[in-house]
Order: sequence, then C-alpha cells, then structure tokens
Amino acid sequence: KNIKIIEVPSEIGAGTRGASLGIEAIKIAALDFMSNFFIHFPCEKIPVENKLLYEPIESPYAKRIKGIVSMYEKVSKAVYDTIKSGFFPVVLSGDHSISGATIAGLKMAKPKSKLGVIWIDAHADLHTPYTTPSGNLHGMPLAISLNEDNEEYAVHELDEETKKHWNYLKNIGKIAPKVLPEDVVYISLRDYEKEEKGLIDKYGMKVISTKEFRTKGAENIVRSLTRYFSDCTDIYVSFDVDSLDSSLTKGTGTPVSNGLREREAEDLISKLMQNRKVCCFEITEVNPTLDKENLMAEIAFNILQRSVNVLMMS
Ligand code: ARG
Ligand code: MN
Ligand code: MN
Ligand code: MN
Repeated sequence: KNIKIIEVPSEIGAGTRGASLGIEAIKIAALDFMSNFFIHFPCEKIPVENKLLYEPIESPYAKRIKGIVSMYEKVSKAVYDTIKSGFFPVVLSGDHSISGATIAGLKMAKPKSKLGVIWIDAHADLHTPYTTPSGNLHGMPLAISLNEDNEEYAVHELDEETKKHWNYLKNIGKIAPKVLPEDVVYISLRDYEKEEKGLIDKYGMKVISTKEFRTKGAENIVRSLTRYFSDCTDIYVSFDVDSLDSSLTKGTGTPVSNGLREREAEDLISKLMQNRKVCCFEITEVNPTLDKENLMAEIAFNILQRSVNVLMMS
C-alpha cells in the first residue's frame, strides 16, 4: 500500500489543552529513536481552528462546534482525495472529534461501501449534544457517524444554531448514517456514561473488554474480528491512546485504569493491519503537555511504525 499521512493538529474537541502538539511530539519521539520514518511518506497538514480557544464556546453542550464543522469539511475532503488518488490515509489527529470527519471522507470516497469500524478506546465517544456530560466534541464522533441523537436519553435543550451545526455534522457528505451500529466494535472500552451504555445495549454493539482481549490473545481476537466483519467491504481502525492503561498514559487528556499494555496494543493493531479490508488508520489524543518524558508519544510512534511497516508489505 502507498501510505499518505494526514496531520490534523486539532484540540478544540477536547476538554484539556495541548493535544494539538501531539503530532509534533510523535515526530520528536521518532527523532529520539533516531528514526527517519517521517521522510518516507507524503504528508498533508490540515489547517485547524485552535484560534477559537480565545473565543466563547458558543454552546455548553457542543463546545466550539462551528470550528469542528470547518475542520470536518477540510478533513473529510483530504481523506476523500487521498483515497481517490490511490493512497492509504494514516491520520494523526490531536483530539478524537476528528474521527467523524475521517469516516465521512472514507464513506464519501466509497459511498457503496459497508464500512466496519474498530474503535480502540477507553471511551465510547457516543454522546450527543443532547446527552453530553462535558460538551466536548471528542466524546461524540461515533454518534455523528451513526447519525444518532439519542433522544431517549436527551437531557439538554439546544439552541437553533447548535442544532443546525450538529445536524450538518451528521449529514456531512450527504450520507447518513455512514456506519451501522452492528459494524462497530469497541476494544478496551471501560469508561462510559449511562446514555452511551443505553445505545450500546439498544443496538447490541460489540464490545471486547481488556480482560477478554487478554484471555483470548491478539491472534484469536483478530481472527474473530475478520469473521465479524465478513459482510463489510472496508474497515477503519481508530486508535485513541487512552485505550492503553493509565500507568502508560500520563500524556493524554483522559487516562483510565485497566487498559491495554503497550505490547498488547502493538500486537493487536499490527495484526489488524494485515487485513486487506483495512482502508484507514488513525492515532489520536496524544497530549505532550501532560507528559514530561514524552512516553505517550513514544508508544504512539512505536505503534505507528510497526503498523505502517505491515501496511507497506500488503
Ligand atoms: N465521555 C466523556 C465525555 O463525553 C469523555 C470522552 C473522552 N473522549 C475521548 N476521545 N478521549 O466528555
Ligand atoms: Mn476517544
Ligand atoms: Mn478515549
Ligand atoms: Mn454484520
């Protein structure tokens, strides 16, 4: 595969500042390992809306959503163009809100695809502005892709402007939903709210816990995922670094205990990359301002490098 790296130094979707520096931190990690990895690939850097951090949040239930809309337009177009020109997009994003735009670009490039999603994350990222406990858009990208409002659990009243932006995000590329709940698999999910659990139960979404992963091992899990996605045409892998255990993730905004070990994540992801259907890989939520040793970025780099090596051979 021909890899193209898409850099999106976003951070307005997160509640903690600093994720926009994550990509540079990963590059520093590469230099510290004396690796010239990054010179081998074409790379496109998407302009982001971090200047909005100096302005009011617009809505407490969808903070800076106007800036998110603008990033969704640019990122979905970049992913679309990358696929159309025959490259495999590897997306490095600051905060996880961007994954909804990545998925949009994939679906716009292949409207007839049945897209499977492997969401490696401590969190479900299934909130909507009607249910969010934080107003942070990085807790919502899967709801956007599923075209979900979660009305059943709605607690917040939205103003018309926010509603308009939210509906625009869900319909971006004029395809909605872009993914079906049966085609989403969570790995290492362990920190979610009842509103998210409500959706997971209602749709019977597949969840592989850290414990199940550890018991069965990467090999068996990847084999069962291949079977699970047999009716999908394409698979997108989203790796939020907070899926790793909190002992390793000082350098992310929302660390959670009982997560994956570094070796487990590396084995899982590099084995997933052998699947021909995998069409895009994203790494997100590295925040070096929280991490004096740059350990989080070093782990992210190791996983990136091993995964890309596998992708280049297939
Ligand atoms: N569920 C929480 C929220 O909505 C946390 C989301 C964390 N998401 C992430 N991509 N790190 O605020
Ligand atoms: Mn996430
Ligand atoms: Mn997370
Ligand atoms: Mn299916």
